[in-house]
Amino acid sequence: MSRKPLIAGNWKMNMTPAESVVLSQGISNRYSRGWNKVDVVLCPPTIDLRSVYTVLDFDKSNIDVGAQNCHWEPSGAYTGETSIPMLQDVGANWCIVGHSERREYFGETDSMVNKKVRALAEAGLNAIVCVGESLAVRDAGEASRFVCDQVRAALAGLDAAEAAFATIAYEPIWAIGTGRTATPEQAEEIAAAIRATVADLVGEQAASAMRVLYGGSMKPANADGFLECPDIDGGLIGGASLKVEDFTALVEIAAKHAE
Ligand code: PGA
Repeated sequence: MSRKPLIAGNWKMNMTPAESVVLSQGISNRYSRGWNKVDVVLCPPTIDLRSVYTVLDFDKSNIDVGAQNCHWEPSGAYTGETSIPMLQDVGANWCIVGHSERREYFGETDSMVNKKVRALAEAGLNAIVCVGESLAVRDAGEASRFVCDQVRAALAGLDAAEAAFATIAYEPIWAIGTGRTATPEQAEEIAAAIRATVADLVGEQAASAMRVLYGGSMKPANADGFLECPDIDGGLIGGASLKVEDFTALVEIAAKHAE
């Protein structure tokens, strides 16, 4: 794998600030030099960001902090929202965008995803842009087309330099939190199609530098199959990111694949 692997933990709406300290400390305690071969990011709920950043910064463990969502405007009358400057102020340098749960439950559209991705690039924050099809779309044989359309919409208007702040996470909706994963072959097929789409949008060089992750019930027992795929550069981990043993094992597996 020529790209540095990335393992990002999406804690979703789990962990109080106190619990977030325990979990991030547990992960940080396992930090070892081999982890330098992997980019590791913890994405806790917004309210936990400062606590998690403080733990990781104190330990100097080279683990980054990311948010799970942001608003594209720097400030203003957007009750309940969090701006990118606010995220930066508490130490976040990553942000997940367009997770299928946000698209499904909070009405996040492709156009909102695009505004967020552009605002993050402008601010110099890394975006983890989630794309993925439903089972109905897959069964209709439309998975690749659907996902590539999402990628086009998310990256619309970005040039190669801005696209360098984006990572794409392919997360088939039917595999999220279900215990059912895509096969490595299915994931690789879509990851390769994503990379070809990115090449079409911003050029071959930017596409070959961009990381594409798999997400959806990824755990230590199945990670090898995904990380062996030429176009899969890491994982966006939900359930398994809440367990120190599992998350740190995933980082170790990714480090092994980086060798
Ligand atoms: P999961 O979630 O690993 O629990 O399937 C992944 C995600 O939603 O990012």
